[in-house]
Amino acid sequence: MTQTKVHELPPLPYDYNALEPHIDEQTMRLHHDKHHLAYVNGLNTAEAKLAEAREKGDFSLVKHWEREAAFHGAGHFLHVIFWENMSPNGGGEPTGELAEAINSRFGSFKNFWAQFKAAGAAVEGSGWVLLVKNTMTKELDILTAEKHQDLSQWVTLPILACDVWEHAYYLRYQNNRAAYLDAFANVINWNDVANRYSALK
Ligand SMILES: [Fe+2]
Repeated sequence: MTQTKVHELPPLPYDYNALEPHIDEQTMRLHHDKHHLAYVNGLNTAEAKLAEAREKGDFSLVKHWEREAAFHGAGHFLHVIFWENMSPNGGGEPTGELAEAINSRFGSFKNFWAQFKAAGAAVEGSGWVLLVKNTMTKELDILTAEKHQDLSQWVTLPILACDVWEHAYYLRYQNNRAAYLDAFANVINWNDVANRYSALK
């Protein structure tokens, strides 16, 4: 049986009413105690079901549970960041290294905030606006997510990537993507994967 760590809802790093009047207590209670908890529970269920599937060797519902893991996982991890990103003593502008990075990437804090606000306002339906650091370029970027995830979990980094667009295999394998995945297994550079894994520690 594979070990699956159970995720838990972390307490808020401040009181429910600490962000008043900007964010009201009732919203914080519902948002944290109900909505965030639902993502934690959903992620645990998805991971347990995927562990069960591996155990049984039955991946017939893998698409469903991967979607659930992405939705609830991204929801859970983003909310952890969101709570910690706020403080009763917050506001103002960043200083130091972050301020320099923002100025260099966006021109000024004013420009950064204008784009961040516009991007957040333009998200279709439910979602997030995120300031991110790209781990390859080391640059800051502003990105948005519809819902939480688009089938991925934020705060994860790819260490093994396999392109499953048709252009990656169609000439040789036509519609047989599974055969292409078998072929891919024969050329994986596990040293590279291991190096990427170690670099994260
Ligand atoms: Fe939320």
